[in-house]
Amino acid sequence: MRRPFISANWKMNKTLSEAVEFLDAFLPLVGDSGDVDIVLAPPFTLLRSVGERLKGTNVMLSAQNVFYEEKGAYTGEVSPVMLKDIGCSFVIIGHSERRQYFGETDDTVNKKANAALRGGLGVILCIGETKKEREAGRTFDVLRRQLGEGMRGLSFEGIVIAYEPVWAIGTGLTATTEQAEESHAFIRGLIRENHGGKAEEARILYGGSVTPENIPALMQRPDVDGALVGGASLKAESFAKIVKYR
Ligand code: PGA
Repeated sequence: MRRPFISANWKMNKTLSEAVEFLDAFLPLVGDSGDVDIVLAPPFTLLRSVGERLKGTNVMLSAQNVFYEEKGAYTGEVSPVMLKDIGCSFVIIGHSERRQYFGETDDTVNKKANAALRGGLGVILCIGETKKEREAGRTFDVLRRQLGEGMRGLSFEGIVIAYEPVWAIGTGLTATTEQAEESHAFIRGLIRENHGGKAEEARILYGGSVTPENIPALMQRPDVDGALVGGASLKAESFAKIVKYR
């Protein structure tokens, strides 16, 4: 049985006081949710203070990005060692917004995943097709390439996959549960090809306009093991409802 994994992705949102307000409301709401891995990914500026508040709770901390070198002259970048040092358990790598706006490629995704795992972080590896790719019938080709390249040389230990169809992110267009399951099952098949039995343990999250309303049906699908939640994770009450989808 795979343990459900629900992560918030706050993207470029929240000041310190807004984060404190969120945590004051959120932590009491999910304190008794022992049967699910709960993760918050605030922006870099909030990692330390949010991390302090999460100590001793059932909620884990994730960063939204990382660089693949350990230290040195890389202005503006943050290394896995630094993230680990302030209490991060995970880092999101390869989010479509990073691929789209910041030149992230399958190669940099692979380097970052490698460095993060070496640095003792868990990796939430994002893959997903654009609308154009789906309409051209290329969804599976894209997933195969992104997963194959992103995971090159890596074992599956410490990795959670997030399937995020780009056309469903922040658009209010959720993939149907059938579309999600079809891609998730395909991804599990790819993992089986390369990592055998590990595929049954691999957790595959769905992301893209997840809400308290649509999460129960998504989670009923056999290959959907959790969610990566953007917009609906910004309010404590709605993210708590998602965590407590059962
Ligand atoms: P969304 O974002 O829930 O706002 O669609 C999901 C994501 O980008 O991780």
